[in-house]
Amino acid sequence: MSTEREETQEYINGMRPGPLTREIPECMRDKYTIVQTILDVIAFWILLSGYIITGIYRAIMGYPKKELKDSIAVVTGGGGGLGSLVALRLARLGCTVVLWDINKQGLEDTVKLVKGIGGKCHGYVVDLASREDIYRVAKTVHEEVGRVSLLINNAGVVSGQYLLDTPDHLIQRTFDVNVLAHFWTVKAFLPHMIEHNNGHIVTIASMAGHVGVAKLVDYCSSKSAACGFDEALRLELEVRGIKGVHTSLICPYFIRSTGMFEEVNSRFVPQLNSNEVADRIVFAIRTNESLAVMPGYFRLLLPFKWLVPWPCVSEIIRRLVPDAAPAPIASHRPQLTDDLVPTSHKGKLDSRPMTLVPPARHDRHV
Ligand SMILES: NC(=O)c1ccc[n+]([C@@H]2O[C@H](COP(=O)([O-])OP(=O)(O)OC[C@H]3O[C@@H](n4cnc5c(N)ncnc54)[C@H](O)[C@@H]3O)[C@@H](O)[C@H]2O)c1
Repeated sequence: MSTEREETQEYINGMRPGPLTREIPECMRDKYTIVQTILDVIAFWILLSGYIITGIYRAIMGYPKKELKDSIAVVTGGGGGLGSLVALRLARLGCTVVLWDINKQGLEDTVKLVKGIGGKCHGYVVDLASREDIYRVAKTVHEEVGRVSLLINNAGVVSGQYLLDTPDHLIQRTFDVNVLAHFWTVKAFLPHMIEHNNGHIVTIASMAGHVGVAKLVDYCSSKSAACGFDEALRLELEVRGIKGVHTSLICPYFIRSTGMFEEVNSRFVPQLNSNEVADRIVFAIRTNESLAVMPGYFRLLLPFKWLVPWPCVSEIIRRLVPDAAPAPIASHRPQLTDDLVPTSHKGKLDSRPMTLVPPARHDRHV
């Protein structure tokens, strides 16, 4: 009992309880703490300098790229947009690609495209807003295709209306697809990655996860949650000493020709080319890059957000993106006809994606 009280007292005094502190005479304890803190700070700066020098060396000399041949990759939202472009690239690198999407037609089209370039590809209809669906299909993939070592959480939806005009079920769906699905897919595939000390989890978030934009309140907050998910998960893997499983967070600005933000009104910074974004994602995967921001110079601009007063931040964002969704996003998108909806999902209108068929202008370069 008295030992417990002493240890509590040590905590109150800011001391680390343990065998060492107990051996140090009372009069020396303050000095010991100061010396220890100084040593900790020196060690921290040495480590930091080491990492920075390695980073600069790698940036100049190039990063070693890992082989993806024969690995199995799950790409959520692979039935269209960015997902299909990433799938094509992975297939070309020798990956077996497993596409998950709620859009049956888009899925079939992409499977054909991937097979057309000689790739191995499987398509599964999954509603990522349903945890049960995710767990069920993950089990099927494991049995039918094999152990997944690359998971790309790419599927996303956007409502594109002022918060007070956004129906509750769309807000719910945004969080279900854009972030909660990441929890369920990772819970389904990570144990096998840890078991084999080999895996990679990719979170396709957005610059909207770092910067708030009007009409995208649910989208921005879900993407911000996705950024937090990736960082905390990466740290958790490091704390657990799991060195073979990597995570990458991808934060692009608005992308042209995928369908999601087709009508966005963006000034000064041009919308990104979808093929270039897909190339950048594959590069991040192959080099185990933890964060990829697109365009890259946004990485230098982001810290300003915390340095300058809010009115300044507000002016910049409002000038940069005068209107994220000039027309309500749902209204200018084609609606799912019944034959495009898998039987198991008929009637579940809430979880339908906003992008239902790949846009005609969508050029899939590999
Ligand atoms: N397009 C952009 O400007 C942009 C910018 C930054 C980040 N992103 C992010 O990149 C990712 C891909 O976006 P995109 O531009 O290719 O969008 P997209 O709308 O073209 O593709 C999204 C895919 O997700 C699928 N999907 C939607 N809801 C689903 C559900 N419930 N279950 C299964 N599949 C579902 C859709 O069918 C579609 O194939 C998204 O996470 C998006 O938030 C996009």
